[in-house]
Amino acid sequence: MTAVPVQRGLEDVVALESKICFIDGKQGRLIYEGYDIRELAERSTFEEVAYLLWYGRLPTEAQLEELTERLRQLRAVPEGVIETLHDLPTGTTPMDALRTAVSALASFEPEEGRPGATSIGGAQRLVAVLPAIISEFDRRRRGRSALPERPDLSHAANVLYLLTGREGSEMDVRAMDVALILHADHELNASTFAARVTASTLSDLYSAITSAIGALKGPLHGGANERVMELLRAIQTVDRVEPVVQEKLARHERIMGFGHRVYKVEDPRATILRTWSRRIGEEKGDLRWYDLLQKLCEVVHREKGLYPNVDLFSGSVYSLLGIPDDLFTPLFAVSRVSGWTAHVLEEYADLRLIRPTARYTGPTDLPYVPLDRRA
Ligand code: SDX
Repeated sequence: MTAVPVQRGLEDVVALESKICFIDGKQGRLIYEGYDIRELAERSTFEEVAYLLWYGRLPTEAQLEELTERLRQLRAVPEGVIETLHDLPTGTTPMDALRTAVSALASFEPEEGRPGATSIGGAQRLVAVLPAIISEFDRRRRGRSALPERPDLSHAANVLYLLTGREGSEMDVRAMDVALILHADHELNASTFAARVTASTLSDLYSAITSAIGALKGPLHGGANERVMELLRAIQTVDRVEPVVQEKLARHERIMGFGHRVYKVEDPRATILRTWSRRIGEEKGDLRWYDLLQKLCEVVHREKGLYPNVDLFSGSVYSLLGIPDDLFTPLFAVSRVSGWTAHVLEEYADLRLIRPTARYTGPTDLPYVPLDRRA
């Protein structure tokens, strides 16, 4: 019998069926529950997209208002989680703090208010509370007190307020809303797959999302947008893009923000974020990052035939909105927790333990040598 070929990284392996997200890597299309991301980015809100991912359809006005109100009610961080954050050593990274806080959260949810470890209530809770967890951690490490709650703000406006301490302009808030929509789901990316594997054992929602956060932290996945900004700050001027890229490629280094396992053309999210990087740059009178990124696209495509992915332009938008670099990946989680929870709920609804196999390449039938006779 011919051996089943090993697909390293499970590349192109179809692991399950899902109706949540479709990616056409050849055409560069991304669809959430039947709706093209370009239309959602143009016309929708993050709250509406979260509803779509969880329920498989766009909400009515009343359903959207109910969800929006529910999310506002679920924003507060339990005192015990705040203390857990405060007990973390100085220098703890934001992604380590977020992973720790979400892991602790389930233990501190008030019994009567526990939204349910495997319910949509838990999903809503996690979407609502993550921004405040990140804000608590970030302000504490800067020696600042927590911000007063702002139940009047939309989800995107509240995220911007919590991560920068200020209300943004209408355009700033829209840019944040679009970024949250664009990052909400992406089929079986590594962190979503980690969440589904955890859920497939019938573990709880908080454990599944803790798994996902751990996976997202990796620079080959969620951590790339922060490294893109490090690269831009190192390059500084457009005339230095070419030599710096050539040096990195000569050392066989990856250029963060480029390439993708699925997209073989430009990531449609990068196309939209490029527009917002220019738009916000023009509004703030600062096109430094946009100009550097455009030159980077030209050089990397010419040298490696690679296209930008979602992480290339997102950092420039966040930076212009006043968000610190090391909060970019936590911000990715703030959005993706909607997709993660949708996939976990889908897994619970049609459960199958995820357990692939490995091809064993070691020896067999070795004789056991007692300890005192080993060389
Ligand atoms: C995200 O899966 C998802 O959907 C993820 C995501 C989501 O929304 O959840 O889209 C978010 O993670 C976006 C990707 C962010 N990561 C980065 O920008 C890191 C840089 N990118 C690469 O590490 C890479 O492109 C990956 C990891 C994204 C994809 O890598 P693959 O599919 O495993 O491709 P590969 O490593 O087999 O590379 C194929 C070739 C290699 O050349 P050779 O060694 O064969 O000559 O392309 C080269 C690679 O060296 N290559 C790059 C490169 N990406 C691939 N060379 C330089 N810079 C790069 N960025």
